[in-house]
Amino acid sequence: MADWWKKSVVYQVYPRSFMDANGDGIGDLKGITQKLDYLAELGVDVIWLSPIYQSGGTDAGYDISDYYAIEQEFGTMADFDELLLEAHRRGLKIVMDLVVNHTSDKHAWFQESRMDRNNPKRDYYIWRDGHEGQMPNQMMGYFCEPAWEHDAKTDQYYMHLFTIGQPDLNWENKQMREEIYTMMNWWLQKGIDGFRMDVISCISKPAKAVASDGGQGMDCTNGPKVHACLKEMHEKTFSNYDCITVGETPGVTPDIAVQYAGFDANELNMVFQFELMDVDSGPLGKWTTQRYDLLDVKRTITRWQEGLFNRAWNSLYLGNHDQPRCVSRWGDDSTPLYWEKSAKMLCTFLHMLQGTPYVYQGDELGMTNVRLDGLSEARDVEIFNAYRLYVEEQQVFTHDEMMANINARGRDNARTPMQWNDGKGAGFTQGDPWIKINENHTRINAQKQVGDPDSIFNYYKQVIHLRKAYDIITDGAYRILDAENPNVYTYAREDENAKLLVMCNFTAQEQSADHVVAYLGQGKYKRLIGNYANESSPTDALQAYEARVYLIEA
Ligand code: GLC
Ligand code: CA
Repeated sequence: MADWWKKSVVYQVYPRSFMDANGDGIGDLKGITQKLDYLAELGVDVIWLSPIYQSGGTDAGYDISDYYAIEQEFGTMADFDELLLEAHRRGLKIVMDLVVNHTSDKHAWFQESRMDRNNPKRDYYIWRDGHEGQMPNQMMGYFCEPAWEHDAKTDQYYMHLFTIGQPDLNWENKQMREEIYTMMNWWLQKGIDGFRMDVISCISKPAKAVASDGGQGMDCTNGPKVHACLKEMHEKTFSNYDCITVGETPGVTPDIAVQYAGFDANELNMVFQFELMDVDSGPLGKWTTQRYDLLDVKRTITRWQEGLFNRAWNSLYLGNHDQPRCVSRWGDDSTPLYWEKSAKMLCTFLHMLQGTPYVYQGDELGMTNVRLDGLSEARDVEIFNAYRLYVEEQQVFTHDEMMANINARGRDNARTPMQWNDGKGAGFTQGDPWIKINENHTRINAQKQVGDPDSIFNYYKQVIHLRKAYDIITDGAYRILDAENPNVYTYAREDENAKLLVMCNFTAQEQSADHVVAYLGQGKYKRLIGNYANESSPTDALQAYEARVYLIEA
């Protein structure tokens, strides 16, 4: 089917924390293969694997040291081939996460590049002279560190937008680009079904960002040649395969997204926007405990739903391996009832929008944020760097304030092991897990939910099934019905034949639904799904975190 990815649901697996088959405490490929039946049962179509390539280990796999090898902690290439085969046998597609903005500093290219200024690989990376004995410019990277590192051997600086162990590749270099395309084709030839392209909006650096002028540097997103590079990549790789491509693109607005993922852009199928992820940011970005305002969510979602309609395709997500758990952040995990209802409400809200929904592992169980009792329980480099900057160097947060921020927003929230059962290792491992297991696995786990028709898992399953059964969920135009209501989010999806009415209460208080009376008119309605058992009518008040979806026929 053309554009099959429009009807698909993608499930993100974070391999390190999904399933450990050999008891060393680290998830692995064999573990994923063991759990394919679970994913098939859930009904998802595509599995996105966070990076499994050989890695330098400074950023949990997002620092690749060999694009052609599997990280030994995760297994072997034979294990990968088996996973791919077994996935395909079940009708599941596999999308690889690909990091080509940077490599690991342990990658052979960088090892050569740093040897001397005339090395043939020198120009594969971004090397600059210092400015008056200091860094080329003042630019800061994404992880609370300067974006430049001095390398004594050749007395120049290399650029790294992320950790020191992640030198940025130089996309001005044609030979480097060709090597990347060859590698991508090698994987596509193997039979994988697409790529999620890590921070792909950052690959082309604006002149000021890489100038040795001592200046402030500048934002590296959407640089001057990014579209030329992606068109070239599309032509040399994607266009020859029936694959799905999604770009992680910090810095995109809907109009910019159309440049990357417009239906005739010949670049990517869709992009991950960050505007929604930023609605609850504080003055220091993500490091805050501040809760979002639903009106900001509405404005953002509406701008994207309307802005891409008939022009490009949305990706829909509320969380991933870089974000807190969606039920803790956008829902309410403060009581068992609110937890269950809000997890189902968020699922409804997201999956009924136009676009391809992404489920992050464990969201289908309502997995929550974890509580880290101190830095010794943290594992993520971003957390350590932010703590150093904000607590130790700048003292803008006390230890306790920063721990609260980390517990609200840190990436380790998403990275605790999958909760398969209530046993000691949560069914994830027989050994010592590499990161703490959330103690609520005794209550929240797959074993308890898969057989329970009222569970969050089975609710996800039903919602995923609806997407297959009703084309209006894929194609219908979006319309918001209560733009000014700070508590309830009501939207419709409309095509020539029918309307879909989606009602979501984002609060624990009962909320009136009078506002849908006019919209309903004389239409006949049928409830497709809801997270409370009663057969309500659309105009009944919404209970705590209630969600209901109706099909209305004229
Ligand atoms: C992306 C990844 C994140 C990683 C960063 C650097 O944002 O999702 O996990 O740290 O890129 O590769
Ligand atoms: Ca293992």
